[in-house]
Amino acid sequence: MKQTLIKGGRVLDPETGIDGVVDILIERGKIAEIGNEKSKIQNPKSKIIDASGKLVTPGLIDIHTHLREPGHEYKETVESGCLAAAHGGFTAICCMPNTEPVNDNQSVTDYILRKANMAAGVRVYPVGAISRGLRGESLAEYGEMKAAGVVAVSDDGNPVMNAQLMRRALEYAKGFGLLVISHCEDRNLTANGAMNEGATATRLGLAGIPNAAETVMVARDIALCELTDAPLHIAHVSAEGSVRLIRDAKARGLQLTAETAPHYFSLTEEAVMSYDTNAKVHPPLRTDRDRDAVRQGLRDGTIDVIASDHAPHSSVEKDLEFDAAANGLIGMETSLPLSLKLVEMGLLSLNDLVAKMSTNPARIVKLDYVGLKPGNPADLTIIDLEKKFTVDANTFCSKSRNTPFNGWELKGKAVMTMVGGKIVFDDR
Ligand code: DOR
Repeated sequence: MKQTLIKGGRVLDPETGIDGVVDILIERGKIAEIGNEKSKIQNPKSKIIDASGKLVTPGLIDIHTHLREPGHEYKETVESGCLAAAHGGFTAICCMPNTEPVNDNQSVTDYILRKANMAAGVRVYPVGAISRGLRGESLAEYGEMKAAGVVAVSDDGNPVMNAQLMRRALEYAKGFGLLVISHCEDRNLTANGAMNEGATATRLGLAGIPNAAETVMVARDIALCELTDAPLHIAHVSAEGSVRLIRDAKARGLQLTAETAPHYFSLTEEAVMSYDTNAKVHPPLRTDRDRDAVRQGLRDGTIDVIASDHAPHSSVEKDLEFDAAANGLIGMETSLPLSLKLVEMGLLSLNDLVAKMSTNPARIVKLDYVGLKPGNPADLTIIDLEKKFTVDANTFCSKSRNTPFNGWELKGKAVMTMVGGKIVFDDR
């Protein structure tokens, strides 16, 4: 029988509590055994992967990415997105439905999954739309999409402005065991804003978006989560007030989870000072105070997940005056090293970081495997915590280049990604 042995690495799994140098034996794509002495783990026929000096974690899972296929393949395809994911250390990703056509029905879900199968690498879990065409007017067919394989519903990119429709979405999704992921933004408050509201926007002559554009919707959705007793996940938390509202709601025991993205704990609105459209994103980069609140939210467990919100755009949408440029930045190939900075700063333990990038996301979207346990698929990431590199967008697997982190010196990187026992990225 074909076996693989991952030997000598520091295995860290928040799910099982393992943290130590142990070996992992893999058979038929699954984890067969974790340990280091006696037993089958000594099998001389095993293929050996030497992980000494490296960190071995359950495969990282990115629950918020945009793959742009179908419709905008010039920005990203399922295949290029999966490659970017594998290089970033991700074994599974959830892709948002704002494609063209929108993923609001079985045929689009099927199409994405077929493409993902052909790309044969990273696991892809599509997210279906909350509303037909993301128009916020009527609900999409959750039963049909769930049967086709979606793990959640979201109108990400757009808010659901109608509170009654959002209530029905939570109730309907609950019936199908689907998570609702909310893009919290009041479009009336956003108006024609292009960046965070405040002195910097005034200096740059750009219209601002107040924090309240996010927080009023977080407050509304918490009220609806309470009303419906349905699970709700708040996407891309960026504002201090949102962190506070989520913290309070969680203390009251609501079925509420939240994510943020590396740009919200790594950058502030200062990144926009040079009119760099790569730093134009929804919600916008905010102040030091917001960035610190997001960090604190990660630290105290208010924010459960770090997701990339990988949002590829081409130069056609980005090389424009700031007002006209598209929102979003790519992140799958920088997410892990930027997040490791939080560990270096003493804000998160390595264990917490792995929980936020692997086991928490797996539980939140209800994958049937969480962590490194015998019987689970052999999905794992090997990380070199000491590897230093300079971000060079030209080397990215993503088809797009819209990152504000180009040229940053970072430390710590995935060097091998394994999905179901198969190596999908190897840079050891
Ligand atoms: O900046 C953003 N870009 N925010 C979103 O919510 C959507 C995303 C995109 O799809 O480009």
